Amino acid sequence: MLELELETEGDTLALARSLAAALEGGDVIGLEGGLGAGKTTFTRGAVHGLGVSEDTAVTSPTFALLHQYEGRLPIAHADFYRLADEVELEELGVDELLDEGVVLFVEWGRKFPGMAGRMVLWVELEIVSDVARRARLHPRGVRGDAIISAVRTRLRS
Ligand SMILES: Nc1ncnc2c1ncn2[C@@H]1O[C@H](COP(=O)(O)OP(=O)(O)OP(=O)(O)O)[C@@H](O)[C@H]1O
Ligand SMILES: [Mg+2]
Repeated sequence: MLELELETEGDTLALARSLAAALEGGDVIGLEGGLGAGKTTFTRGAVHGLGVSEDTAVTSPTFALLHQYEGRLPIAHADFYRLADEVELEELGVDELLDEGVVLFVEWGRKFPGMAGRMVLWVELEIVSDVARRARLHPRGVRGDAIISAVRTRLRS
């Protein structure tokens, strides 16, 4: 586990960018934390870190449920908050997208155990103040370990 204090939104975006550099197609990143903790903001940093133009807005997939981007890898961003059940999850088509090699970011992924089991990394964000957050990165398996060590290396340099 890697725990970091993020003093500003810029710190959150910078952490997400360094994490993005280590991502590979098929990686699923779970984002946890209450409303407004910064899950979408973190994803925005990662999407831009994956080479999507800064001019491309990265917003909450609240209504569309799934947003897609094309960076150095194909990217999908889903929010399961409003998903009712596994049938709706299946209809989103994330399995097919993962087969195609997307990097997938999921907010509220804990809701569905099948999906939760596919996370290579959980990013847990906690609100400390208006502008500060605490991040805990929890790796799952070898991919998660590799991402965490890449982030550690970047933080040191
Ligand atoms: N250090 C920080 N990191 C991330 N966001 C921050 C930080 N400081 C302030 N913020 C603000 O907190 C808000 C986070 O909103 P965001 O939509 O990213 O949260 P979320 O976790 O996705 O919420 P939701 O559960 O509604 O989807 C934004 O308005 C952002 O500007
Ligand atoms: Mg969000």
